[in-house]
Amino acid sequence: MKIGKETVPRTRISTSDEDTIVVRGQDLCADLIGKTSFTDYFHLLVTGQRPTPAATAVLDATLVAIAEHGLVPSVQASRMTLAAAPDALQGAVAAGILGCGSVILGASENAGRMFVEIDQKAGADGDLDAAALAVLKDYRVAGKPIPGYGHPLHKARDPRVDALFRVARDCGAGQRFVAIAEAVERVIGDATGKALKLNVSAAIPAVLLDVGFPVTALRGVPILARTAGLIGHLVEEMQHSIGFALSYQATRELVYEGEVPEGFGKKN
Ligand code: COA
Repeated sequence: MKIGKETVPRTRISTSDEDTIVVRGQDLCADLIGKTSFTDYFHLLVTGQRPTPAATAVLDATLVAIAEHGLVPSVQASRMTLAAAPDALQGAVAAGILGCGSVILGASENAGRMFVEIDQKAGADGDLDAAALAVLKDYRVAGKPIPGYGHPLHKARDPRVDALFRVARDCGAGQRFVAIAEAVERVIGDATGKALKLNVSAAIPAVLLDVGFPVTALRGVPILARTAGLIGHLVEEMQHSIGFALSYQATRELVYEGEVPEGFGKKN
């Protein structure tokens, strides 16, 4: 049985013969190994293009910005998994990455899509604040949170935001999506009733869209970066395990509110 129209699998990413491995049109061993940074290689893999100097600076900065933020849920899930399955590093990394979603860690893509919508609504000469407010109101009508705004710890602006915006400015990157991100911050109080501030998951898509990084690849940035951070935590977990301490802390104040069979807990 065949599903869909395509019958021949095609790719533009890589091929090889006995002597040469070709990646995105380049000879891996002659042109890339020892000659390109991993950040530039990631850009080439994802877009098929070598990055501009500004794209290199911005992409590198975003990867550094989101790789590590302490014992956040993704790290806890990962370390508990390794404690329970010490022979499954890959499983522990996967456990941490699985939660890279719209609430914590993975909101960048959603914020990027919102910025693109505001960009299109405003058009070339339109008022960014008015376009932002209109899009935000649609989100509120749909009952959706505004992606990339608000943070449980960084109630004033997330410090990573200004650091990323500075990198983008200093390397001469475009500023259109940074301006859109700041317009959202200006009007978010009018749409939500709360003066929520930019967090890193809005700054990442803003600076990346300004260097032409594709919106479809935005979620890959926190996934790639956090994979590096998780491997650091997992190597520490192998040296000094806290996975079961995390699990102990999670259950120690647990309150069971369901029913119990007669006689439960009354040992005599
Ligand atoms: N859009 C709309 N309302 C938001 C909001 C957002 N982005 N962030 C917080 N709020 C509102 C909440 O609904 C809540 O309202 P209430 O008091 O009327 O119930 C209030 O602000 C406090 O929210 P709370 O969830 O307690 O704040 P928090 O600071 O613990 O939440 C997040 C942090 C990240 C979960 C939240 O800000 C959020 O969902 N942001 C969007 C997703 C995002 O950017 N994630 C990446 C984080 S780095």
